[in-house]
Amino acid sequence: MNPLIAPSLLSADFSCLREDIRRVEEGGADLLHLDVMDGCFVPNITFGPPLIRSIRPHTRLLLEAHLMINDPAKFLEAFVAAGADRIIIHAEAVPQALAVLAKIRELGAQAGVSIKPKTPLASVEPYLPVVQTLLIMTVEPGFGGQAFLPETLPKIEAARALIDRHGYQLDIAVDGGINLETAPRVIAAGANVLIAGNAVFGQPDPAAVIRQLKNAKPA
Ligand code: DX5
Ligand code: ZN
Repeated sequence: MNPLIAPSLLSADFSCLREDIRRVEEGGADLLHLDVMDGCFVPNITFGPPLIRSIRPHTRLLLEAHLMINDPAKFLEAFVAAGADRIIIHAEAVPQALAVLAKIRELGAQAGVSIKPKTPLASVEPYLPVVQTLLIMTVEPGFGGQAFLPETLPKIEAARALIDRHGYQLDIAVDGGINLETAPRVIAAGANVLIAGNAVFGQPDPAAVIRQLKNAKPA
């Protein structure tokens, strides 16, 4: 099975988002990854519901909001109303996330949970039966264009083993430093969704990179 490719809009040119989105959509992207940062949970600020509302009419791609914010429960309605199809919260931001994940699904969106590189898999185990995506950060969240952290590979392997053992139906997404060199390693470890910002939008031909990432073989 080829991995799904989720370009991260963080590395797009914000002065021509519609054009950048069109290029990755036509280039074969499977979904669009939207990094929401609040300057508290991570040391950076990006965008919120208004931007999602603006791009929603211009793409058919599934829009996935990766909420790197404290207290995401406060903003779920706003993100769903803006057009997010999937909401991923951080386990570190919500100690007891089951209720928040249930609320996301009640609002009609898909739910996901993410963990930072140093957060153990055990902290999200209780959520795996109820989420659509487990997002394993492969850099410290906050900025695009960072180097992949190879110490996250065993966690991806452990997640794949656990999910397969239980027969849970969810994606394992990886986020941070994913490019043509690291893709084969995360695929071999068990990831099936590749989120990539710099590797896609930092290139003159994003479609070519998407194609190559999709065809990356485990190594
Ligand atoms: C980082 C974000 C990532 C980021 C990935 O905090 O969650 O989605 O955009 O960017 P690259 O692919 O450039 O590492
Ligand atoms: Zn992200």
